[in-house]
Parts: sequence; C-alpha cells; structure tokens
Amino acid sequence: MGTKLSVNINKIATIRNARGGNTPNVVQVAIDCEIFGADGITVHPRPDERHITSKDVIELADKITTEFNIEGYPNERFMELLRKVRPAQATLVPDPPNVLTSNAGWDTLKEADFLKGIISEIKAMGIRTSLFIETDAAMITKAAELGADRIEFYTGPYADLFDTDKEKAIAPYREAANVAQECGLEINAGHDLNLKNLKYFKTNIPNLAEVSIGHALISDALYLGLENTVMMYQRELDA
Ligand code: PXP
Repeated sequence: MGTKLSVNINKIATIRNARGGNTPNVVQVAIDCEIFGADGITVHPRPDERHITSKDVIELADKITTEFNIEGYPNERFMELLRKVRPAQATLVPDPPNVLTSNAGWDTLKEADFLKGIISEIKAMGIRTSLFIETDAAMITKAAELGADRIEFYTGPYADLFDTDKEKAIAPYREAANVAQECGLEINAGHDLNLKNLKYFKTNIPNLAEVSIGHALISDALYLGLENTVMMYQRELDA
C-alpha cells in the first residue's frame, strides 16, 4: 500500500513569526512542498497562534491542491475553522491549550460522549476524521465505535525507543495496527518520525495510509534543502 507523506509546516510559521513580516512565506512553502512531491500539507493551529494562524489556514485552503490536514483540539474555534475551510481531513488531538507539542493520544473511553458528537458533526461536513491515539486496543476499538474514519498513531514512544531496541519499539504498533484493521479503521502516524526511523515503521505497518512529519523534515531541510528532503522522505516510504 502506498503511504502518503503529509508535510507539517508549523515550523515554517514559527520562523516567520520570529520576525513578523512574511518570510518565509508559509503558503509558498506549502505549494513548493507539493511541487517537490508531498502528498499533503498538515497544519496545527494552536489557540495562542504561536505558529500557524487561523488566517494562514484560510489562505492555505485556497492554494493547496493535495490533501489538506488540519490538526487540533476540537473546541468551537477549531470547528468554525473546519466549517470555513473544509479540509480533506481533520486530525483531533486531546491537547490542553498551552502544551508544547502533542504528546498523548485520546482516552476514547472517557471522552466518548464528547468525541461522538464532534465526529458526527465533522463527518456531516464531508471531512475525514482521524483520532490521535496510542496503542491501547480498547482505545482503538472505541475510536471505531465512535465513528472515526482513521486513527493517527502517536509515534513519540516508537521514536524514543527506536535507537536502543527497534523490535521492542515497533511491537505495540504492529499489534495495534491489526486491531485497527479488524475494526475497519485506516491508519495514519506521526510524531518524531525521521529519516532514520521512518522506513522501519512503514515496513512493519504495511497498511499505513499516511504519515505527517514536521520537526525532523524541516530540520533536515536546513542541511539538505527542502526539495531534496521531501524526495528523501518519499523514498523511505516507497521502499
Ligand atoms: N501529528 C500530530 C497530531 C502532531 O501534533 C504533530 C506535531 O505537530 C505531528 C504529527 C508531527 O510531529 P513532528 O513535528 O514531530 O514530525
């Protein structure tokens, strides 16, 4: 199965915001990532707008020709943005407002009532819904019951363990991917994926629909150039 590469461009907005102004130009970078071979663009507008702003999201929506994926905690502001922009996919994350980065998946059992309503609202907008989640089978099964189309595995723990014990790092994801497939859920993954650990993840999770990668990819681009970097990540997924 072909795995799509969605480039998360939050870091581009972080650099721009450091100076005000419009350099680097977030919309142009998104367009260029598509030209360089990205299958999608991901953004995560946070309530404090420290990187991607609502205005960015609206501008990007008009220009992106691949899949637009918007991540975030589904508060009223986020839902309003989805109504306006109608991206291909909404990835729901359980982040408290000021967290540095998403570092936990949903507790789909505890949050079942909230998520069920939100998911049906998003699906009614014609947007694919993905839930950011860890490898617990009960959480995954519940995600399917709540109507999610996909789950996005939080791959932080995989990346942390990868250098010391690859097999131990991947094992819970392999099992969780089987559970997801049995429930009819498609699988995305993201967080701390990079040029070292991506291929092994993809090889072991063959039904991986999409990865969204930001931090490592943009960091690699400082050395390798953006065009080359996007191609190198794509090559890892083709293998
Ligand atoms: N998926 C989600 C839900 C995220 O919040 C992030 C970080 O914004 C990513 C994927 C991408 O993680 P990274 O920047 O480590 O590649």
